[in-house]
Amino acid sequence: MNLVEKINKLKKEKNAIILTHCYQNIEIDEVSDFVGDSLYLSRAAAKTNADIIIFAGVYFMAQSAKLLSPSKRVFLPNMNSGCLMADMIDVNNLRQFKSQNPDIPVVCYINSTAEVKAECDICCTSSNAIEVVRSLNVNKVLFAPDTYLGKWVEYKLKNVEVITFNGFCPTHLRIRVEDIENARRRYPDYLILAHPECHSEVSKLADFVGSTKEITEFAQKSSHTKFIIATEKGVVDRLNRDSMKNNQGKTFVLINDNIVCPNMKCNTLEDILYTLENENNEIFIDTNTAEKAKRSIEKMLLLSERK
Ligand code: 13P
Ligand code: SF4
Repeated sequence: MNLVEKINKLKKEKNAIILTHCYQNIEIDEVSDFVGDSLYLSRAAAKTNADIIIFAGVYFMAQSAKLLSPSKRVFLPNMNSGCLMADMIDVNNLRQFKSQNPDIPVVCYINSTAEVKAECDICCTSSNAIEVVRSLNVNKVLFAPDTYLGKWVEYKLKNVEVITFNGFCPTHLRIRVEDIENARRRYPDYLILAHPECHSEVSKLADFVGSTKEITEFAQKSSHTKFIIATEKGVVDRLNRDSMKNNQGKTFVLINDNIVCPNMKCNTLEDILYTLENENNEIFIDTNTAEKAKRSIEKMLLLSERK
């Protein structure tokens, strides 16, 4: 039996599912039950009947799955898969941020730890950040940890001041205005699709800004055939694979060769098999934190489910 066959066999025996973020190594899709962005995977985690969830993503994603499915056992195949942005803020930093800006609702990006989520009013992902902030119906919010997603929300909503914590994604910040300008010169007939974690000046120059899933859906539905993608390489790999598979004749080019999140690439098929066999790297969250953090994610899910 090869690795994929061994994993699929064990999945069945243990009633396990594999949730995979679209920045993961593409071969992991072969054993995955769901592949998508943070919001899609959170919903899948909340609804599953499986006993075991293997989360092929980064640590905060596995934690969110555990928060939403506390009775399930959740595992991260490789514990080195942390999100550098999520690690930029801890509870003490958040408390300080709040005390410097008292009495303002706090929105936290899902790219944060359970401890941070527990002290925020509502969670958001890159798919629904604008909708979440709008739903609060206030003229000022605190937003943590991603300063650029927060600024993007402010730019789009116009009438809400978004005070941001100074976190950022080192991978997306490797995309520069010059990359966009060069791409426009070199590929004048390509559309540029960007993730809102990019620097604000980059996002403003793109033709479309959205989460990984929104970028994928936009590209698939578009009558356009050529795209420059300004987010992590995993999205480009999947778009090119699917276009080839479905004979769509679409071309997707990564904005620059360095847009690879090293932490997202830590999980391998070998790690997944090892975790399924040995049940190592299980995620645990203390009950008090879990209860509060879950509330902020559930508020978000409720809001975007109404759509
Ligand atoms: P999505 O919410 O688009 O999946 O993005 C998660 C992420 O970590 C982007 O860097
Ligand atoms: Fe975190 Fe950036 Fe990697 Fe996304 S791409 S997981 S925000 S470090």
